[in-house]
Amino acid sequence: MTVTSIIGAQWGDEGKGKITDFLADKSKVVVRSQGGNNAGHTIVVDGKKHKLHLLPSGILRTDIINVIGNGVVVNPVVLLKELANLDGERGQLFISDRAHVVMPYHKMLDGGEESSKGESMIGTTGNGIGPCYSDKASRIGIRMGDLLDDDVIIERLEKALPRNQALLNHYGIKDDLTINGLLETCKAWRKELGGFITDTSLLVNQHIDIGASVLLEGAQGVHIDIEYGTYPFVTSSSPTTAGAALGSGIAPSKISDVVGVTKAYLTRVGSGPFPTELEDEVGEIIREKGQEFGTTTGRPRRCGWLDLVMLELSNRICGFTSLAITKLDILSDMDEIKVCVAYKGEDGTDINHFPSSLSYLGKCTPVYKSFAGWPSEDIDISNGIIPKKMKNFLDFVSESLNIPISIVSLGPGRDETIIF
Ligand code: GDP
Ligand code: IMO
Ligand code: MG
Repeated sequence: MTVTSIIGAQWGDEGKGKITDFLADKSKVVVRSQGGNNAGHTIVVDGKKHKLHLLPSGILRTDIINVIGNGVVVNPVVLLKELANLDGERGQLFISDRAHVVMPYHKMLDGGEESSKGESMIGTTGNGIGPCYSDKASRIGIRMGDLLDDDVIIERLEKALPRNQALLNHYGIKDDLTINGLLETCKAWRKELGGFITDTSLLVNQHIDIGASVLLEGAQGVHIDIEYGTYPFVTSSSPTTAGAALGSGIAPSKISDVVGVTKAYLTRVGSGPFPTELEDEVGEIIREKGQEFGTTTGRPRRCGWLDLVMLELSNRICGFTSLAITKLDILSDMDEIKVCVAYKGEDGTDINHFPSSLSYLGKCTPVYKSFAGWPSEDIDISNGIIPKKMKNFLDFVSESLNIPISIVSLGPGRDETIIF
């Protein structure tokens, strides 16, 4: 029996969906524990691409129990659309009664907050994730379980709607939302989703108790974590091992394995610092070859070299028991591959730990170690063979961070994966 937490070790989009789907083969339960439909997880099975935003990545396997945990914020409109888009059979689905609902006013507010920030905008996905988590912290949120009772919906809306409307008004956004109108919307959601809503903490723990293997599918990445990310250019939840335990309703001591998923290079969507960013032809080549365009928003992702200073922090907070390294195929046939091993401060000192101050970080320059590129023709996935130069690169990353590598990903497909 294992409980494995799958964590994005960078700025998101590391390939968590692919790795979760791959590991789901040997699991019984897959839990999404935080974030909402700001996530975009891509799974490619038999050449067919599936994009998931809220549904856990075990959903394509009929024998998997899929759970949307209490830490997730659920937009019912998006969830219903995603369920309708699934053709063919799917696994079972349960939604936590404690998960918060992304309401129409949250999405409207996200836009207002962003435009008011002007040049310092965060570049959110615009899905109302921040405003929904704000209401949760302000204790005026509406939970999935609340949808089951008209009186509770009205009581919650009487608190939430006036405050959100005042904020919309502040941002100059007109709305025609009413308690009665929203009540009808909630009732329609209840009709469609009510049967999935339950105490998922109980459900997941019951499966752990009978020895089932469980995957906790992280969304986002450690460096957009609300606590440890490049604040304020972060998301509003905690994509860490601790966040995974809390957002699934299981004790942290139940987690046996923590897989840090990292690309062989680095990408970021939205604003915020990026010390190893490549604003040149090499960055453009990686973006095109790696198809680095957002799964959720379609925005071009910023590209740069792998940064071990970042990964040291991710590992410190999350305690990776192994790494899954993705997109190694994208670096094939490149003349030179670089890895950032430290930063140089303004005064010439070596910096080995990711700083919290963005102005300090802005004055740091990356120190690189160079690697020779590897020939793509020397990759033989079906026989588990990788080029020697790729092995050198992987050994260096593993030894520098003192974390074993468990999975090497060489393509988007389920079968383009080597257990290391
Ligand atoms: P997630 O948010 O962490 O699940 O990652 P995304 O799905 O947003 O982005 C990862 C992208 O890379 C998707 O288009 C995947 O299909 C693709 N992908 C994942 N692993 C690999 C890999 O090893 N090689 C290549 N070429 N593509 C990959
Ligand atoms: P997955 O799960 C990459 C980024 C946004 C923005 C910041 C805040 O696919 O890895 P938000 O909408 O959360 O308030 O936006 O966080 N962001 C992501 N970047 N992958 C994601 O998810 C992300 N989810 C949010 O681009 O910079
Ligand atoms: Mg993604």
